[in-house]
Amino acid sequence: MEKLVITGGKRLEGIIEISGAKNAALPLMCTPLLTDEPVVLTNLPRLADITTLTDLLNHLGVTVTIAGGDGTGSGGRSLTFDASNIADTVAPYDIVRKMRASILVLGPLVARMGEATVSMPGGCAIGNRPIDLHLKALEALGAVIEMEDGYVRASAPRGLTGGEVRFPFVSVGATENILMTAALAKGTTTIENAAREPEITDLAKCLTGMGARITGAGTETITVEGVEKLHGTTHAVMPDRVEAGSYAVAALMTRGDLLLKNARSADMQAPLDVLAEAGAIISSEADGVRVKSNGNLQGFNIVTQPFPAFPTDMQAQFMALASVADGASVITEAIFENRFMHVPELCRLGADITVNGSSATIRGVNSLKGAQVMATDLRASMSLALAGLVADGDTVINRLYHLDRGYERLEDKLRAVGAQIERVND
Ligand code: UD1
Repeated sequence: MEKLVITGGKRLEGIIEISGAKNAALPLMCTPLLTDEPVVLTNLPRLADITTLTDLLNHLGVTVTIAGGDGTGSGGRSLTFDASNIADTVAPYDIVRKMRASILVLGPLVARMGEATVSMPGGCAIGNRPIDLHLKALEALGAVIEMEDGYVRASAPRGLTGGEVRFPFVSVGATENILMTAALAKGTTTIENAAREPEITDLAKCLTGMGARITGAGTETITVEGVEKLHGTTHAVMPDRVEAGSYAVAALMTRGDLLLKNARSADMQAPLDVLAEAGAIISSEADGVRVKSNGNLQGFNIVTQPFPAFPTDMQAQFMALASVADGASVITEAIFENRFMHVPELCRLGADITVNGSSATIRGVNSLKGAQVMATDLRASMSLALAGLVADGDTVINRLYHLDRGYERLEDKLRAVGAQIERVND
């Protein structure tokens, strides 16, 4: 079993290059299902979730090859996806259980092939996470939905027709699924209360490059004029705002100074505002965002909400920050009902945190103390790594597969800016 061993107390300084965004790459990798021409995606991160989705696409008959050069080197990997021959429309349990985002193949497959069957998804254990909004949206475009033996089947024997989709609350995944589907439906689809996350805008940009007619992406009303056929394109995956935000927290926690190369401040304004309130000096540079400690670290309050408000994917990392800030902080998780699993692990390192329903009160302590901890989900793992960077002595993080789902070369990137961190195999 691999573990990360972090010896805390090092100030981080230097440049960290931010990778392509996992959460943008996953929906983007489903767009080739909509066309018989090749789609090239550049700046793809090397992450376990990307491999899982590649396996699923291969299973469906999509050929995935390295595009140009050897596909390695900085700037991420470029892959060509060729879905000219879709061989299967069933996404099986064995692949889907590894990653919830597999549900994103459902809409594109129905739109192109007239039917699709996807195992009910698994993924991070952060609450119940149903897919009802995805299914209702597909029904609004004329798909017939059936559930059997843990699988959901969507079919549209007479094709899909544009319709009105009004989400009762914001869902990133459901917005992405229906956006891809509507691109090939007959007529106009309007999506009300659509997610406004930058990953939606990135997806719409790629689809538009494929010939889709989309207006309003990035606002709460998106309109899609269906077209008969989409064509191939080349699209660069946007930089990962959650990875950038996580390293921004590392800069402040270690009283350091990091340039997050490629990061875009407009994608992460809410977390940057909280960091500034807590004690960071933030500047937008030509090639990224610089985060530098002003020497102080003050407590803060956060409520997670859909974009542009504070993202749930940064909640755990900011809780690590609050653990060592002056005074008390209150963090309320309003998106997922079970996303405080990092709390007992942070407490093992000496944090003082009390959870009451969906709110956690964190009383900053003078120092954390290294210990053995267990990563429970992707972002929780990162909060433990951040805590380890400032804890006295060694912090040992077990169950690294969660981290490897979402952070590319974490230990290399941190070591290059001064952290003492090692991956060991015992
Ligand atoms: C995406 C992100 C994830 C992030 C989340 C919220 C990807 C691959 N994952 O997940 O990292 O934490 O957005 O920003 O991009 N819900 C339903 N029914 C549905 C769909 C969602 O009730 O059909 C609920 C969820 O349980 C949750 C809320 O809606 O409480 C928001 O979830 P959603 O935005 O859909 O998250 P994901 O797209 O799964």
